[in-house]
Amino acid sequence: MTEVQRLEQMQTGFALRYGSLPELWVRAPGRVDLMGSHTDYNEGYVLTLPIDRDTWIAARPRADGWVAIESLNLGGGCEFDLQAVQKDARAPWTNYVRGVAAVLRQEGYPLTGFDGLVHSTIPLSSGLSSSAALEAATLQVFQALGGWRIEPVQQARLCQRAENEFVGVNCGILDQYTSILGQPGCALLLDCRDLTSRGVEVPAEISIVICDTRAKRQLAGTEYAERRAQCEAGARQLAGYSPHVRTLRDITVEELAANEDRLPPSVARRCRFIVEENRRVLDMAAALPAADRRQIAGLTARSYAGARDLYEINSREMSWMMTAMLGAPGVIGARQAGAGFGGCMLAFVDSAQTGPFRRHVEGAYAAAGGLTPGVYVVQPAPGAGLASPLAAYAISR
Ligand code: GLA
Repeated sequence: MTEVQRLEQMQTGFALRYGSLPELWVRAPGRVDLMGSHTDYNEGYVLTLPIDRDTWIAARPRADGWVAIESLNLGGGCEFDLQAVQKDARAPWTNYVRGVAAVLRQEGYPLTGFDGLVHSTIPLSSGLSSSAALEAATLQVFQALGGWRIEPVQQARLCQRAENEFVGVNCGILDQYTSILGQPGCALLLDCRDLTSRGVEVPAEISIVICDTRAKRQLAGTEYAERRAQCEAGARQLAGYSPHVRTLRDITVEELAANEDRLPPSVARRCRFIVEENRRVLDMAAALPAADRRQIAGLTARSYAGARDLYEINSREMSWMMTAMLGAPGVIGARQAGAGFGGCMLAFVDSAQTGPFRRHVEGAYAAAGGLTPGVYVVQPAPGAGLASPLAAYAISR
């Protein structure tokens, strides 16, 4: 779908539902982590890419302090009163919108109600942060209509709070940070302790290709919470031996090796993965802009092996996809993405060979398990904000 088609579809949808054209357009991107699985809640590093798959909201203010929100992707929109924001089990996706409203209200920001229509090109529930993009886009609407501005890192924290406290998912800050602080044209090396980041170039000769297993993420919620608890337990115990340790971020591979035997075996495996993965992020932030293919191949292979054997977030479909990706023409390296347990994976591919790569992966993955994968190249995209000049033009017509 072109941007013009998307715009027209949303305008038509908006007019049908609300009887007029929208007055405001915002967008927020999804993300894929190029290196650094589960390091964010351990205050570690992530090399993360805001992608050109995004969520748009078209909106028009209303004077009665209510929000109406519907989606072109999902049914079950709703209306809610900003004075009394409640969770809604019947339309769970609206809780990301409600959660942001609730948190902003708690923080004392004056909120204007609106009629809104959502459209997303981020595959839902596949590990590319469609929920964080909806939170980030919602915050942009309230901000633009309210005429106030929140500093971007604080925006990310508030969206994370909406997800932790209102929706009830104890995620780290990776997704919200990437969606809000993305810079055009590059990946971000994010330090999840002090919440600073710097741009990292993705060289033109290397393409980032998402390979969606289309396998529903099993147990992602409960297993995620368990991994997080194991990391925290490991850090507490290790702090008993080395007082400088606050989180797994503070431990080197050598320090861990000295005390690993004292940890319960499953906790030791989780800790080892995180400590090694953290190191790999910094190495990847150097290897990628240098287009160091050997290094990228090694780092991605070790990240995947660790995710499978130490962090245990792999699945049957992810193994099939890994085989398909590694057998494809032009592949440089491949690994898991997001929380794991199914969903999307990614490959670093020679830009001249993305067509043959895609065709091979589609055929090989479908032959392995009968599922049709989603395979597409993504480009770096800017962080959340007002939508494209095209959208602005459409409103003024
Ligand atoms: C999910 C969470 C993030 C992060 C990743 C794993 O996407 O929302 O905070 O923990 O998993 O790296």
